[in-house]
Amino acid sequence: MKRLEGKHILITGASKGLGRQLALEFAREGAAALSLVARHADRLYQVREEIRSLSPRTRVLALPADLRHSKAVERVAAATLAEFEGRVDVVVNNASALGPSPMPYLLDYPLEEFRRVLDTNLIAPFLLTRKLVPGMLARGGSIINVTSDAGVTGYPGWGAYGISKFGLEGLSQTWAAELEGTGIRVNWVDPGNLNTDMHRAAEPDGDPAEWADPASVTEAFVYLASDASAPVSGKRFRAQEDWLSVAAADEAKQGTERDSVPAGRE
Ligand SMILES: NC(=O)c1ccc[n+]([C@@H]2O[C@H](COP(=O)([O-])OP(=O)(O)OC[C@H]3O[C@@H](n4cnc5c(N)ncnc54)[C@H](OP(=O)(O)O)[C@@H]3O)[C@@H](O)[C@H]2O)c1
Repeated sequence: MKRLEGKHILITGASKGLGRQLALEFAREGAAALSLVARHADRLYQVREEIRSLSPRTRVLALPADLRHSKAVERVAAATLAEFEGRVDVVVNNASALGPSPMPYLLDYPLEEFRRVLDTNLIAPFLLTRKLVPGMLARGGSIINVTSDAGVTGYPGWGAYGISKFGLEGLSQTWAAELEGTGIRVNWVDPGNLNTDMHRAAEPDGDPAEWADPASVTEAFVYLASDASAPVSGKRFRAQEDWLSVAAADEAKQGTERDSVPAGRE
């Protein structure tokens, strides 16, 4: 059996880069339905066509939307729930804005750009999750937020982007804590340096040959979207590094805790 057989999955930022690659891989892994979100309809429809030829059984909903606007986030959640008969099993909050390129220092950072980045990278995942959690309570589910090492270290010049990812890390931890015991798990993944439009804009003088192909980092995401990770929540993963050991350690810990429950307490 494929690992995501029957899953209904929403991915933001699915028109290119990592999000597109996740959509293709999730379809390959048997996802029953995919809701794909990004601003540019043409690129999104192209990904829908790619999935249709790769996995004709996967239902694909392509929703052009600018997630910077709360009304658009609400429309995405409502349209997905309506199309998928109220069932969403997995949400990947992947869409992200870098902000101005070249990246200004905070002293020079335009306020409107700062707000735009936070609206896209932090407020949208908060609101989308809040809209979808009630429908997930009955069956459980998996929320995967895409973070960055700029979300744990304050690099000069990474301004609003890094700060939004610091916020996303806190948002993820808080959701995970508040949803503990509900069957809805929340984890966050740093995909590492990828050869995508975003990274090329962030480091125009860098060597893209040194950055990973997004196709090489999808495994951690498939794991977190699948039932194999059912006991795992509140964890940070690095898709190019130690994600398997984090997963194994957490699964072992859950097993030990289960085994050590005194008789009569289960
Ligand atoms: N690339 C890296 O090296 C790297 C490293 C660490 C973390 N990350 C994280 O990995 C994730 C994917 O990054 P990537 O490199 O694949 O980026 P990317 O190639 O720039 O793709 C970003 C995606 O987000 C969508 N998007 C951007 N703003 C949006 C908005 N306002 N509303 C809806 N969709 C929007 C884009 O589509 P439209 O333009 O059509 O809207 C696109 O589909 C991001 O969360 C990023 O922060 C990337």
